[in-house]
Amino acid sequence: WESNQRKSMLVTSGNMKLEENFEDPTSLNLPGSENYEFVFDDSQNINFVNSDEKLSIVDELSEIRDEKHEETRLKDEERRAKKKSIEETKKSLPVYKYKQDIIDAIKKYQILIFVGETGSGKTTQLPQYLYEAGLCNNFDNDDTTTYKKIAITQPRRVAATSVATRVAEEMGFKLGNEVGYTIRFDDKSSEKTLIKYVTDGMLLREFLIDPEMKSYSAIIIDEAHERTISTDILLGLLKDIVKINKDLKVIISSATVNSKKFSDFFGNVPIFNVPGRRYPVDIFYTEQPESNYLFASVTTIFQIHLSQDTPGDILVFLTGQEEIEAIEEILKDTCAKLGNKIKPLIIAPIYSNLPIELQTKIFEPTPQGSRKVVLATNIAETSITIDGIKYVIDPGFVKEKVFNPTTGMESLVVVPCSQASAQQRAGRAGRVGPGKCFRLYTKWSFKNELPKQPTPEILRSNLSGIILMLLSLGIYDILNFEFLDKPSNDLLIKSLELLYALGAMNEAGELTKLGKVMSEFPLDPMFSKVLITGNRKNCLSEILSIVSMLTESGSLFYVPKNNKEMAQKAKENFNNRYKDHGDHFMYLEVWNQWVDNGYSYQWCKDNFIQHKTLNRIRNVRNQLERLCGKNELFIQESSNSSLNRKPSDDDDDNDDSFKKLILNVKISIASGFFPNTSKLTKSGTSYRNLKKQQEVFIHPSSSLFKKKPPVKLLIYNELVLTTKEYMRNVLVIDDERILKDYASHYFNEEALNEIENANSSKRNNKMNP
Ligand code: CDP
Ligand code: MG
Repeated sequence: WESNQRKSMLVTSGNMKLEENFEDPTSLNLPGSENYEFVFDDSQNINFVNSDEKLSIVDELSEIRDEKHEETRLKDEERRAKKKSIEETKKSLPVYKYKQDIIDAIKKYQILIFVGETGSGKTTQLPQYLYEAGLCNNFDNDDTTTYKKIAITQPRRVAATSVATRVAEEMGFKLGNEVGYTIRFDDKSSEKTLIKYVTDGMLLREFLIDPEMKSYSAIIIDEAHERTISTDILLGLLKDIVKINKDLKVIISSATVNSKKFSDFFGNVPIFNVPGRRYPVDIFYTEQPESNYLFASVTTIFQIHLSQDTPGDILVFLTGQEEIEAIEEILKDTCAKLGNKIKPLIIAPIYSNLPIELQTKIFEPTPQGSRKVVLATNIAETSITIDGIKYVIDPGFVKEKVFNPTTGMESLVVVPCSQASAQQRAGRAGRVGPGKCFRLYTKWSFKNELPKQPTPEILRSNLSGIILMLLSLGIYDILNFEFLDKPSNDLLIKSLELLYALGAMNEAGELTKLGKVMSEFPLDPMFSKVLITGNRKNCLSEILSIVSMLTESGSLFYVPKNNKEMAQKAKENFNNRYKDHGDHFMYLEVWNQWVDNGYSYQWCKDNFIQHKTLNRIRNVRNQLERLCGKNELFIQESSNSSLNRKPSDDDDDNDDSFKKLILNVKISIASGFFPNTSKLTKSGTSYRNLKKQQEVFIHPSSSLFKKKPPVKLLIYNELVLTTKEYMRNVLVIDDERILKDYASHYFNEEALNEIENANSSKRNNKMNP
């Protein structure tokens, strides 16, 4: 991808030719793409030249060539956009017409399914209607008013924060007062908050404190069609609780698909359907499969930008932050080179971890004469609606967690999205007027390779975190929990086994004391275990730093194209102090140096590290530290990181405390991640998971990638499946003691021997270099 990046640059000094020179000559087969050519005339205007008048995109172009018509349309639209006050916008939404009916229905029924097309106002308006109808007011016997909250769940962090911001603005409140949000590691709500946007996972955690949801008058489970694990579990719990808490209203809100299923689940409850409005969307397929959908996306963006008049923004569906950042960079580069030869292109990324201060960009109206390109994950499929989108580019992929119950291994995989998703994506182009959707795959592939519906997350994930939570809620009979779709017994049992191996559950299937503490952390049980062991092993400070770094490690380093070597060198320098113990120690070193440099922005810049990411990590670390305190896990004076750190140029052989620190940190990490122990195979490049026998490889981003000699035994944090199963974030296991106390019960004798051998031959190597 990188080595080919230059090929996708579209510029040849003043004369521009649109991509026919992709790596794969068939790579861009949008209707008639082989006929596209853009040339700059003397006055630097772009002319569109084509050789086949019948092409649909070209037809469209000539249609809107009527410039006068176009000009008036532009002006009208601008004026309208300006005049539209918030009040007007609210009134224009499809749900508005049904406001009173909605309020009546909610008063009448305890549980209601609410269906409306994306953008119809479900997420922003429903809570306001309930609030206005006085649902938050709770009259006690003595006639004093107390207040109860309305919760609206969102599967994604970005959706929760951006919608809360919007609704606070609509209602004229300061965010965090009457309207707020709560997401993991970030809480903008207060005593005053009555309308609270919350991730489904965080609302689930509230059951631990308020098992009957007594502080809420209504709970809206939004985006229920997304079928995240947390949403599914919430539905199961609420089904139970409404029988006890008769005052609680429950609304399940979903974008059209499968509403009947929700209704049936709750015992045939009524469905409130708000008719949507949609303009027609023309759908284009490629003639041949794309070998590289990122290239194809970039090309298509420029084709649209150069061939179609503004206004009309573009929305591209990508699978994750890395892809979005890659495309963002190419677009910026290309635009910089083209300068004022093209109309301005405003690039607006949106993905789950995007910091709130950067989110506003996607909603800002596009200035006249320019075009916005929104680079989004499938968050823009239904959770977030961006006005003004006319063109959708759909490469047809999505990143999903996949859990293999036979091996017990979970990995992140880019897979074809479902037909239902593809339809939703296309629909985004038809909100403001007729639109176009470019599918970067063939029609055949749509019909034959895309599954009809997405698989609910609960059927393809490791459920140990959720089960731990259910256990701590006192729900022991997991196999008989009311699931909307029941995970296979295999999957449930594998997850239970892991909890048992971690010591969170005893043989009778009951929560242990350790398990109870683990459930207090909003982390995967494996990570919670690491924190607890870190405390026992007197290295909580280091472990807190490492665990916090791991939550955001994907976006820590950046590599500018014109300075790759320096960036690589800077990254390697972080390995000096802890001499190749692995990525965890590299992260620890990054953290420590940043702290020593007073959280400096300049330091980050000098070292090619994203300052924003470190700031987020700092926040996560503070919150985890607070949670540790609450659970009586404390950072010991003696383990203060800067005391134990050792100058890198010393001879480390005599420094016992330094070695002990390293050992303890490794033991702590291994105490949670021992199921991921892998050993080098004879091939010398691949590894094999000791328990599950699967072949895995070190991720190219790891500090241990292509290390010579290769590490014999290691533990990884996660698997990412691309061309191979790659292990991301890898720790070197070079001492038997690391796996002894907390993990040896997990392995059979053969595996234990392998562990011992790996470490003893390591020692031999040392003596005999
Ligand atoms: O939930 P649903 O998809 O039905 O719609 P919504 O999210 O409530 O959005 C209603 C309207 O508010 C749309 O026109 C959005 O574009 C707009 N909106 C906005 O302008 N800014 C936001 N941060 C969120 C929504
Ligand atoms: Mg919504």
